[in-house]
Amino acid sequence: MQTLAGVDYGYLRKIVFRFSQNVLDPSRDYLFDARLSRLLRDQGMTDLDELVESLRRKKSPALERSIAEAMTINETSFFRDSHPFELLRLELLPKLIESRRPARSLRFWSAACSSGQEAYSLAMLMRESFPSLAGWNIRIEGTDICSEVVERALAGCYHRVEINRGLPARFVVRYFDHEGENWTVKPEIRGMCNFRQANLCSSPPPFNRIDDRFDVIFLRNVMLYFSQETRRTLLEGIHRLLAPDGILFLGASEQPADPSIWTSELAGGTCHFRPRQPE
Ligand SMILES: C[S@@+](CC[C@H](N)C(=O)[O-])C[C@H]1O[C@@H](n2cnc3c(N)ncnc32)[C@H](O)[C@@H]1O
Repeated sequence: MQTLAGVDYGYLRKIVFRFSQNVLDPSRDYLFDARLSRLLRDQGMTDLDELVESLRRKKSPALERSIAEAMTINETSFFRDSHPFELLRLELLPKLIESRRPARSLRFWSAACSSGQEAYSLAMLMRESFPSLAGWNIRIEGTDICSEVVERALAGCYHRVEINRGLPARFVVRYFDHEGENWTVKPEIRGMCNFRQANLCSSPPPFNRIDDRFDVIFLRNVMLYFSQETRRTLLEGIHRLLAPDGILFLGASEQPADPSIWTSELAGGTCHFRPRQPE
């Protein structure tokens, strides 16, 4: 449908939904103008109308993907909402470590990791609070649909302003090297993390081998962009990828779409979830 301004935002919203399953509210159509300005420049186009018309004439999956990626909201910070990290440190990880002692292995997934701060926060937490696990195989996987933020995560380089958001000073000194305004995670932390681009809603999902299930999954501040149906399907997949005694953290305002397959516990100022086991 054409709007008064002439741009068919509905067409753009459908593209975003098809590629990322993000549901954008029409009241936020103005975001397309700001977010796609660089893409328009790169394409040598003057406005969104020209972009829509060009895609109508000739489909371009690469361009459509770039539109969906440009519309993602990548807000994040180190140790965001501190409670899950504190609860892991004080209560959940000590128990998990005991049960993983025979295998000496722990797997974390920062699903929708944005530019990597969540994954690196977990790596620093492990190094700082559980130094005796240095000989264990501790892997932190980070995935995000947006290639630009995944590249940033892979580089592990942050501006002073990002470093100043949520990172305790002693962590900055211990785990980062800096040059001017830029701070780069040290190799010992970088080496604990893998990052790659992946769509959480793809089929098959980003991880699908249940023989290497995750012990802890962070799926925070991403489901709010999905429809109820997408959330349900995603959480069924996450349920299969989590160890039976594994732990799921969602964003502070998020809940599982199907509570019947999860147990929830409120502790340490936050809620965490575990796969419900058959009675
Ligand atoms: C607001 S950030 C949350 C980052 C981090 N989890 C946190 O809580 O700080 C949401 C991230 O979800 C990613 N995202 C959105 N839809 C996605 C999808 N279908 N698959 C994977 N990542 C997606 C976005 O690219 C964005 O980086």
